[in-house]
Amino acid sequence: MKVVLLLLTLLSCSILCCQAQHHPQTDKEIAVKVDKLIRQMTLEEKVGMIHGNSLFTSAGVKRLGIPDFVMSDGPHGVRLEHGPNYVRPKDLKDAGTYLPTGVCLAATWNPALGYQFGAVLGSEASYRGKDVILGPGINIIRTALNGRNFEYQSEDPFLIAKMAVGYIKGVQDQGVSACVKHFMANNQELLRTSIDVQMSDRALNEIYLPGFKAAVTIGKVNTLMGSYNKFRGQWATQNDYLINQILKKDWGFKGIVISDWGAVHSTDQALWNGTDLEMGTDLGMRPRVDYGKFYMGDTVIHLVKAGKMPEYLINEKVRRILYVMFKTNMIDGHRKPGEYNTKSHQQTALKIAEEGIVLLKNQHQTLPLTAGTKSIAVIGYNATRPQALGGGSSQVKAFYEVTPLEGLKNVAGTNVQITYTQGYKIERGGVSDAKMIEEAVQAASKADVAIIVGGWTHGYNYAEWKDNAYDAEDTDKPDMLMPFGQDELIRAVVKANPKTVVVLLGGGPVDMTQWIDNTPAVIQAWYPGMEGGNALAKIIFGQVNPSGKLPMSFPKKLEDEPAHKLGEYPGNGVTVNYNDDIYVGYRFYDTFNVAPQFAFGHGLSYTTFKYGNLRISANSGKTVISFKIKNTGTIAGAETAQLYIKQEKLNLPRPEKELKGFAKLFLKAGEEKTATLTLDKDAFQYFNDLKGQWVSDAGFFDMIIGSSSKDIRLTGRVFHQ
Ligand code: BGC
Repeated sequence: MKVVLLLLTLLSCSILCCQAQHHPQTDKEIAVKVDKLIRQMTLEEKVGMIHGNSLFTSAGVKRLGIPDFVMSDGPHGVRLEHGPNYVRPKDLKDAGTYLPTGVCLAATWNPALGYQFGAVLGSEASYRGKDVILGPGINIIRTALNGRNFEYQSEDPFLIAKMAVGYIKGVQDQGVSACVKHFMANNQELLRTSIDVQMSDRALNEIYLPGFKAAVTIGKVNTLMGSYNKFRGQWATQNDYLINQILKKDWGFKGIVISDWGAVHSTDQALWNGTDLEMGTDLGMRPRVDYGKFYMGDTVIHLVKAGKMPEYLINEKVRRILYVMFKTNMIDGHRKPGEYNTKSHQQTALKIAEEGIVLLKNQHQTLPLTAGTKSIAVIGYNATRPQALGGGSSQVKAFYEVTPLEGLKNVAGTNVQITYTQGYKIERGGVSDAKMIEEAVQAASKADVAIIVGGWTHGYNYAEWKDNAYDAEDTDKPDMLMPFGQDELIRAVVKANPKTVVVLLGGGPVDMTQWIDNTPAVIQAWYPGMEGGNALAKIIFGQVNPSGKLPMSFPKKLEDEPAHKLGEYPGNGVTVNYNDDIYVGYRFYDTFNVAPQFAFGHGLSYTTFKYGNLRISANSGKTVISFKIKNTGTIAGAETAQLYIKQEKLNLPRPEKELKGFAKLFLKAGEEKTATLTLDKDAFQYFNDLKGQWVSDAGFFDMIIGSSSKDIRLTGRVFHQ
């Protein structure tokens, strides 16, 4: 008895000591434990770990204490529960925090919010028992037509890198893995599972890779998802060059390469070319999928047993999975429990929407609405339409979702009379409806102000996903024209009431040419999440001063876009050549003198900012740029100053401007602050594809500081060796 007591005391003491001394394990310590586990595993157990055993899980090994690996979409909220084989537990409370989508996050230009965004996701994922959250999505926004632009962030790799790193750290600090996706060149949804993307080494290195590189080398992302398309003739998810060479060898990625769902096409290539975990469900919604039939399933066991495939390849994949499991305390550790649907998570959603919504145009101080506003005619289907469940795999069952109309009612107070008319029908290929326009015109002419809430939509349930979704996975927009006859509606309403505000929801630009000149105020609201309606209303009523800036250029017409003008889209059905090369977004508009409707980095405020005192100093390989910004208006506001560089004398063509830094300053009325940006030598380099390496040419560089890529406030120059 005494011995038992002694043993119990020793045991509890050692548990306590262990907890007290708990420290993150070093890679070396993890490697020893991983090797030990692998030595104890059967081949069948190892293979069980490298392919899905349900839509969102892969198998663990119970007898060795290795848990199942549980994944969940997605980029802006933990997806509603799918459960093994699509059996949805009835009682599960899977309605969670619905954050603004990726493009709205990027429009904040505030990396600290990137971190907070990730922290909410990580915390809710942990609470829901998820080990991996399948985000962020960071593919370059190359064409306005891409149905998934709303999930992505920007046309600019520098902005993406800054925002994605914050997001990833935010998720992973909660003990959950992020999964950066979709590696590589998944820039359109149309034909995504068949096309072969061709681009130059220069475009690859300067535009398409840097976001992923930052996610891996700075963000230390634990997992990465390969994309559906081919890249230079080989499927991206099982691509030797992308995965073995660039990701694992050059960048030293130690985590797990997860296939996109159903993106593996060959056992051999997946095993040799670096795919670590095959996910998917080729049998769709059927209740019993035979996961053993996956490319990385039973076939692998047979091949290894027959001596046709070395077992070390399988060990290597298992090693990576176990490494991430140890890193995130899935094995012998303590995971932070996480929180769900807290007020603070909802406040983060609100904050991101407030900083991400962009005021595009504001003539005659139409906004903010003044206290004299007594009546508002709200018009447009998007004013009342919930969006959270739309868009495909990124859908979220929102705990609640404040629509624009609800937000306006919440914020306006009882003294303002608000009417609502739908204005248009959401119907693919639908045209304007004369009766609805007439109703809208009537309402607008009787009100002090008309607010039209329209734009794109992404359908609010599965049935609508395909039929009426424009911003949605697996589908691209047919063109950039406003759907459902909205141009006609806007023109008629503006005529009836010149004090009209147009609010656009959506993952990117619409062609505004039919009404922009006569419309005094335009707001780009993206998909602003569960608190979006409140954020929008606070901006409209001036309780929040807008500070969002466009993370992508808004062209006047689709034909102006480089992907359509210089490059190919959607390709010939087999390949897509990115002949637009490095000239994506503003890099194209500025270099080729094409005027966009609204420039990259553009976004208005209700106050004004004065820039001055530019100082540039160069020492020990660093260039330090500092300048002052003063809020010269009467209310507090925030300004994102952007630093672009331009090489004066060129050896190889370079864009007119390249973003290399930015700073968001929060300034009270009359306040002045100094922004300091530091460039290291990499900032001056470009990828010379004749030499196959990054180079920098000695010479003068212009330092161009703007409130947008077009609104330049300060310029200087520096000689760089
Ligand atoms: C999407 C991924 C998503 C996965 C799982 C795929 O169709 O492309 O982004 O994470 O499904 O739902």
